[in-house]
Amino acid sequence: MTQDIETAEDIEVLVDVFYSKVMQSNSLEPFFKDLNWDAHLPRMKKFWRFILLDEAGYTENVTRKHLHMSLSKELFTDWLILFHKTVDELYSGPRASLAKTRATLIGLGIQSKMNLLED
Ligand code: HEM
Repeated sequence: MTQDIETAEDIEVLVDVFYSKVMQSNSLEPFFKDLNWDAHLPRMKKFWRFILLDEAGYTENVTRKHLHMSLSKELFTDWLILFHKTVDELYSGPRASLAKTRATLIGLGIQSKMNLLED
């Protein structure tokens, strides 16, 4: 039985494992290959500590960060399947569920803003 997400260290592991999987995904890797990881990973960890551990201080508009990217419904599906898979491999419990729900809802919000949800 796996444990739930409880600490900042648990989030470190979640984010590190997720992005290592992203870099092995043919469809997602191109969006991340030129990223400054020293900046991106700490930002993602701060974001997930804000969502899951109620840590104050994350103020970015996540949707806006994605609007300039050339994304599709299929890419969001790939991202979300990989994220859910990563969470399920590592954790189970209320916060693990919350992580998957929030990622799904944020993904839908971005897609809606990009008009990707029609047809
Ligand atoms: C097709 C799917 C997605 C792709 C290809 C993608 C790609 C990216 C990239 C390349 C960045 C870095 C932007 C930069 O710093 O210039 C980023 C940032 C970010 N993404 Fe996504 N993303 C996707 C979906 C999602 C989803 C579903 C979530 C929901 C949790 C999410 C949450 C974030 C957050 C929190 C940041 C950091 C914003 C910041 O504080 O700088 N992304 N994404």
